[in-house]
Amino acid sequence: MAHINDNFLKLQAGYLFPEIGRRVAAFAAANPDKAPQIIRCGIGDVTEPLPQVAIDAMHKAVDDQAKRETFHGYGPEQGYAWLREAIATVSYQQRGIDISADEIYVSDGAKCDTGNILDIFGHNNIIAVPDPVYPVYVDTNVMNGNTGAARPDGSYEGLVYLPCTPENGFVPDVPSQHVDIAYLCFPNNPTGAVANYEQLKKWVDYALANDTILLYDGAYEAFVTEEGIPTSIFAIPGARRCAIEFRSFSKQGGFTGVRCGYIVIPSELQGKDAAGNAVPVSKLWSRRHTTKFNGASYIVQRGAAALFTPEGQQQTRALIEHYLTNAKLLSEACRKAGLKVWGGSNAPYVWVQTPDGMGSWEFFDKMLQEALVVITPGAGFGAHGEGFFRISAFNSRENVTEVCARIAKLLA
Ligand code: MLT
Repeated sequence: MAHINDNFLKLQAGYLFPEIGRRVAAFAAANPDKAPQIIRCGIGDVTEPLPQVAIDAMHKAVDDQAKRETFHGYGPEQGYAWLREAIATVSYQQRGIDISADEIYVSDGAKCDTGNILDIFGHNNIIAVPDPVYPVYVDTNVMNGNTGAARPDGSYEGLVYLPCTPENGFVPDVPSQHVDIAYLCFPNNPTGAVANYEQLKKWVDYALANDTILLYDGAYEAFVTEEGIPTSIFAIPGARRCAIEFRSFSKQGGFTGVRCGYIVIPSELQGKDAAGNAVPVSKLWSRRHTTKFNGASYIVQRGAAALFTPEGQQQTRALIEHYLTNAKLLSEACRKAGLKVWGGSNAPYVWVQTPDGMGSWEFFDKMLQEALVVITPGAGFGAHGEGFFRISAFNSRENVTEVCARIAKLLA
């Protein structure tokens, strides 16, 4: 028999969202009369149609594939130059951020990238993760053998957990010890928190002083509406020497079902080999990407590039405003019901304290069984998420209005 990767056996239960799906399916099967009324505000999956520019561009790209003269087979693994140029110009240079097209690697999404990045790092790094945290960061480190065993509270030995609490506004402080790699995510999934310039500068200063690499997940950057909140880690001086940024079209352009994202690795960023020699990180990622990936599809990349046209930017903004209005309505409904609420203003997630000290999963069950609304229990994101829940604002206005009414009724 072949040997398996034993690290997988350390993983706790199922991945959070399939586990929620399983519980909802079981409830629906046991209550077929109620099933049609269930509203899903659990996983952050978009509901609204794609921006028209992306639809038109992808239709045209399909037509390109119908003719020999315009047909595209394998593209460049890193992404077509026209998409990388558009990203560099619109997302970075026009905002005064120094990133060039050849530092961008297009992929099929940020979830894969945040997991795959571990391929290029060794197993002897000290790794810090926020708590609560997007579970992919933790689970992929477990799979890669970068942790010890799971503890009863779901955390893993060997990782440094950075508590995110109401006291620090859910923005983790820099660790009190040395770490080699630290994950950050702003606007944050799951808490919806954003970090201001000073907070990010503290992280960059820490990283430069400690030779730490920051893995910065900016998948929700397009939801930042507040002046003065940085939308990229590279807005902070020095970040080019200590950070990798992950971006996605999933939430920005409604691409969860289309699949496209990208990773930014500045040319200056270095790691060290076993002998202590400095090695450019981009060189390793380029080697990994070109070996294990054949590029996002031509059709998808055409759709993504259309989002950067002036018309595309306008349509993207309208889509984001739709979800942000949902987030505002959900936040207000929870506040009116007497709950403590965070996030929801520069992010599509509303983070809420459970009523009367209820456990997260206990409140998940109550919401499902009594209000027929699916939320995400905070404990699923880490030990510090216990006592909280997340509501996703990715939904139709009609559903969100109904969810607000059900929250009011449930907690009256
Ligand atoms: C979430 O609900 O946290 C997101 O949908 C996860 C993801 O984008 O993979």
